[in-house]
Amino acid sequence: MSPFTLTRTLPADATAAALRSDVAYGLNRSPKQLPPKWFYDAHGSELFEEITRLSEYYPTRAEREILTARAAEIARATGARTLVELGSGSSEKTRLLIDALGTPLTYVPVDVSESALRGAGEALLADHQELSVHALVADFQHGLALPQTPGPRLVAFLGGTIGNLLPDERARFLGSVRALLSRGDALLLGTDLVKDEATLVAAYDDAQGVTAAFNKNVLSVIDRELGADFDPADFEHVALWDREHEWIEMRLRARGNVTVKVPALDLTVDFSRGEEMRTEISAKFREEGVRAELAAAGLALQHWWTDSESRFALSLAFPA
Ligand code: SAH
Ligand code: TRP
Repeated sequence: MSPFTLTRTLPADATAAALRSDVAYGLNRSPKQLPPKWFYDAHGSELFEEITRLSEYYPTRAEREILTARAAEIARATGARTLVELGSGSSEKTRLLIDALGTPLTYVPVDVSESALRGAGEALLADHQELSVHALVADFQHGLALPQTPGPRLVAFLGGTIGNLLPDERARFLGSVRALLSRGDALLLGTDLVKDEATLVAAYDDAQGVTAAFNKNVLSVIDRELGADFDPADFEHVALWDREHEWIEMRLRARGNVTVKVPALDLTVDFSRGEEMRTEISAKFREEGVRAELAAAGLALQHWWTDSESRFALSLAFPA
């Protein structure tokens, strides 16, 4: 059998239907909003990789520091023979886990971005001949089903991506992950931590404007997929710290009065000058909150590791 297989659990037209319904819902609401998973077409995935290399964007480096220090301990604690990774992107940091777990190992990267999965699979197999990779094009928020692979399984959800879900979505998501786990399986969860506002805002509003381009990419996706006529230049990137919810909120603000047509939805939308549309949140966490959210989903936190500056945390949890 080939060491690389790719399965689409999302038929291409189901994705298109979901995009249509998300955009119709979001643009007809007040305030307007757009759902975040549509950032990640091929160009969006490349822009995100660029974000991870920015000096302001500390989460990737902080998480890599923890993985470097703890991968061997994670391998011992889990003895995993299958590593599932949700929202795997480039799988770059994951190499640390793969190397610590050792072969034979089955790696199941799950992402909505097929281009990211193909790129990551190719790069990994170039230097890991004994790895089998079962890539899954799927939405980790909806009906996730995993292939039959050897246990124990370790499900990794890195990058702080859980922070991009709203609290009720997080609860549902963690419950569905718990349902995938048998006794002896584990969840490795990366969470960005609450810290000073200036550091947080800079990570989501970098000087070079890469995050701004990433945020506006969602408009290009809608233009291409739904024939809309958004001009990204008509919108300005906004990142602000919501102290009450403890999340960063990304918005796009209309620079003037803007009218946009979305032919696939038979929709015309007006933005007034200064009107803001929410595109993404990135929640920041504290240890007690993570422990409580895991417990509510039937998962017991066993290890909590942070980087040397306590910016980011990795949690290892097992079915309670
Ligand atoms: N884990 C990587 C990438 C994080 S970026 C890292 O730590 O650097 C978030 C990734 O999740 C992207 O690759 C994006 O395509 C994917 N993603 C976002 N929403 C998703 C969803 N609902 N289902 C599956 N993948 C999703
Ligand atoms: N999971 C990443 C995070 O929350 C995603 C991300 C980074 C992001 N920068 C962004 C999403 C800018 C939207 C806009 O840190």
